[in-house]
Amino acid sequence: MKYIDYSWDFRQADTKTFTHCYHNYPAMMIPQVAERILTKYGADSHLLFDPYCGTGTSLVEANLKGINAIGTDLNPLARLIAKTKTAKISLQVLDLYLRDFNDYSFSLIFELQRASVVVPEIKNIDFWFDKAVQEKLAMIKTFINKIEDEHISNFFKIAFSETVRESSFTRNSEFKLFRMTAEKMQKFNPDVFNLMQSKLARNHRGLKAFLEQKQEASSQVYDFNTINEVRYIKNESIDIVVTSPPYGDSRTTVAYGQFSRLANEWLDVENANQVDNNLMGGKRVKEVCNFHSLALREHLEKIGNADEKRAKEVSSFYYDYQKSIENVARTIKSGGYACYVVGNRKVKGEVLPTDEITKDFFENQGFSHIETIIRNIPNKRMPSKNSPTNVTGIKDETMNNEYIVIMRKE
Ligand SMILES: C[S@@+](CC[C@H](N)C(=O)[O-])C[C@H]1O[C@@H](n2cnc3c(N)ncnc32)[C@H](O)[C@@H]1O
Repeated sequence: MKYIDYSWDFRQADTKTFTHCYHNYPAMMIPQVAERILTKYGADSHLLFDPYCGTGTSLVEANLKGINAIGTDLNPLARLIAKTKTAKISLQVLDLYLRDFNDYSFSLIFELQRASVVVPEIKNIDFWFDKAVQEKLAMIKTFINKIEDEHISNFFKIAFSETVRESSFTRNSEFKLFRMTAEKMQKFNPDVFNLMQSKLARNHRGLKAFLEQKQEASSQVYDFNTINEVRYIKNESIDIVVTSPPYGDSRTTVAYGQFSRLANEWLDVENANQVDNNLMGGKRVKEVCNFHSLALREHLEKIGNADEKRAKEVSSFYYDYQKSIENVARTIKSGGYACYVVGNRKVKGEVLPTDEITKDFFENQGFSHIETIIRNIPNKRMPSKNSPTNVTGIKDETMNNEYIVIMRKE
């Protein structure tokens, strides 16, 4: 069954409740979708797995319902955010550090204290940051480096990461790294300490709400490449998978690595600029793929007729996707659910039906299709009227819609 359900749009919903308020990230899942999936299919679940956990939206929702969770992601910044969003941080201890930081920034702002700052060696640092901003960021980094408690340190790091981005010359409206115009740069004068303080205060409110509501449950976040490493998760151990995989390779869709690069570099993540190459579709597949999806094979043929190189790129992504689904499928218990929130993007005028492809790949692993719910993504362009599809009510299958594909293991 495949149907549109506007009640899944959550048009007016506050998507920044609890620790969901922590840090912006491209293509985040909205918590309401994860929550509703869990209410509908996760009532008896004890363990959730999100193989593309990003910032951990589904892990937070699982923990709020008393379900333990495992998340994996290749992007270090995403893992840091996911870990921090689900960490049991002592508010008492945190408050002491926040007070310390307040005193520290006060004395630096009013120059009561001279900090010996070492600005880290970051490629093109002067291209992305004003000199005065670099120094202030280095001062905050010095403070963070002295924090011994890992959870508290992470709490500061993710506020710092947003501060890095917002005080850089990047255009904040874009996820890719683009520098603002020369005119804007001239006028740009970010209040670095104030930015950091406001992120910390907002995140503190989110944490407090999360700790008040959270049941006895925890999350583990791992650095696994889901294309080949979920074997470390025990076979048949997972009750429910709730995830939103990338729409396509990072180069032509969302550049997660690029989005995170400046923060990753300030946080000393090694090979920060390599992240995108390792994500799904990042490496070109040379061999001919035997896809377990007729829909995919047909679309690839059409794209190949128009542009062979492009067909190979698309094929590389789905090659990784198929492998990752084989891995994920193994971890799910018999009777357990795979809930994939996917988008159907257009390549060379062809809409790639990732929802159907996901269904085909899981069916090949012994799952049956329960339903696919189509939701509008609010705040995006409305569908255009001139591209009818085979689904009643939908005018144009573009990225204005998301498909929630529910599969059950036999
Ligand atoms: C759509 S985002 C997930 C967003 C997440 N649901 C949230 O709310 O923040 C997809 C994620 O998949 C990750 N990813 C891409 N390829 C991967 C791979 N091969 N293994 C693990 N993670 C991967 C990206 O780093 C990105 O964080």
